[in-house]
Amino acid sequence: MKITEISKGITQLSVNIKDILFESLWEMPNGVTINSYVVKGEKTALVDGVCGWDGVPESLFKLLDEIDVDIKSIEYLVLNHLEPDHAGWIEDLLKVHQDFQVICTDKGADIFEAFFDTDVKVHRVKDGDVIDLGDGKVLSFTTIPHVHWPDAMVSYERSSQVLFTCDAFGSFGIFEKSTVDDAYTDAEILSYERDTIRYYSNIIAAFSPFVLKAIEKLENLEIFAIAPGHGLVWKSRAKKILEDYKTYALYQKGSARKEITLIWGSMYGMTAEAVQFVEKRLKASGIKYHIHQVPETSWGEVLTSVWTSSAVILGMPTYEYKMFPPMSAVLEELGKKKVQGRKAFRFGSYGWSGGAQKELEEINDRLKLNWTFIESYEFKGKARDEDLKIIEGRVTELIDML
Ligand code: FEO
Repeated sequence: MKITEISKGITQLSVNIKDILFESLWEMPNGVTINSYVVKGEKTALVDGVCGWDGVPESLFKLLDEIDVDIKSIEYLVLNHLEPDHAGWIEDLLKVHQDFQVICTDKGADIFEAFFDTDVKVHRVKDGDVIDLGDGKVLSFTTIPHVHWPDAMVSYERSSQVLFTCDAFGSFGIFEKSTVDDAYTDAEILSYERDTIRYYSNIIAAFSPFVLKAIEKLENLEIFAIAPGHGLVWKSRAKKILEDYKTYALYQKGSARKEITLIWGSMYGMTAEAVQFVEKRLKASGIKYHIHQVPETSWGEVLTSVWTSSAVILGMPTYEYKMFPPMSAVLEELGKKKVQGRKAFRFGSYGWSGGAQKELEEINDRLKLNWTFIESYEFKGKARDEDLKIIEGRVTELIDML
């Protein structure tokens, strides 16, 4: 738990979440923070909330107490986004305080009514609407639909130029030293980037076209700090996180970094032997590569690597006339996130019949992956020297395409 003053009258209350799957689905090896913000003018607003589990609501109440904010003094609860990782604690809030207004978008109001049984007043805002808190503090609102849910908006405090963005521009990871980027060197920020990309690719990626629209709407704002619902507050790197998110969004269509992700699975070690050979070739080339075995590696980890890779190598055997099933499961997930336009090569063994290739082509078409494949290569049983030579040639061809 952390309390950080972002600007005069604006305080961040941050709680750390570990050892859960985000959305009960995505691994977070380094956890995540959930950030709430108090904005104090003559009136008090709480911008974004926290989840409703594991004592987190109590933590938020304790943090409010520590900064001498009486829960009953909150007049506005600004909900930039209603997903329960930010709104879940409202059940607990309603037990002690009902005399406030919820501020959210039209879509947010529908979701609020679906989640909560309460007579609390809900004020629906649209682009450009403002709420004057007094004492120079004015919040204005801009919708950014589908970053992440359709209800999403950002709130901007005009005098301090702090932009509250909830899921947008967030990241995974827990930051012990400080919750503000200024406390870290560029090298440290770079070392956290995989957590940001993991968050982006696992949670936001499917909505990348909406991310680009949101950035277009926000990029002319004067910004002192971007204050998201997850991860670091961005002050000196506020422009950079906007640019980084734009870059991540553009990776969806292909032409990502000069990196290759090798995803592989093997039933009895035949494909695995060829994978070792391919990895040696990748290592010798000096190109940056990621390697993940399925089903041992989580979707989230694979997706993080593929998101930044311009090329993908798939190594898997045929299994009952189709692809090795964990590979098709991963590809289905990549399809849902619309990871398109990669250069790709597939190799693998078969025992008595092929079939993996047919399913791969079907998935590539159905999910509109639009991946460009170098001719696949299958070998019967164990890969012999002549098979490895052909595989090496095709891996080299793929590297040369980057
Ligand atoms: Fe952090 Fe979409 O909720």
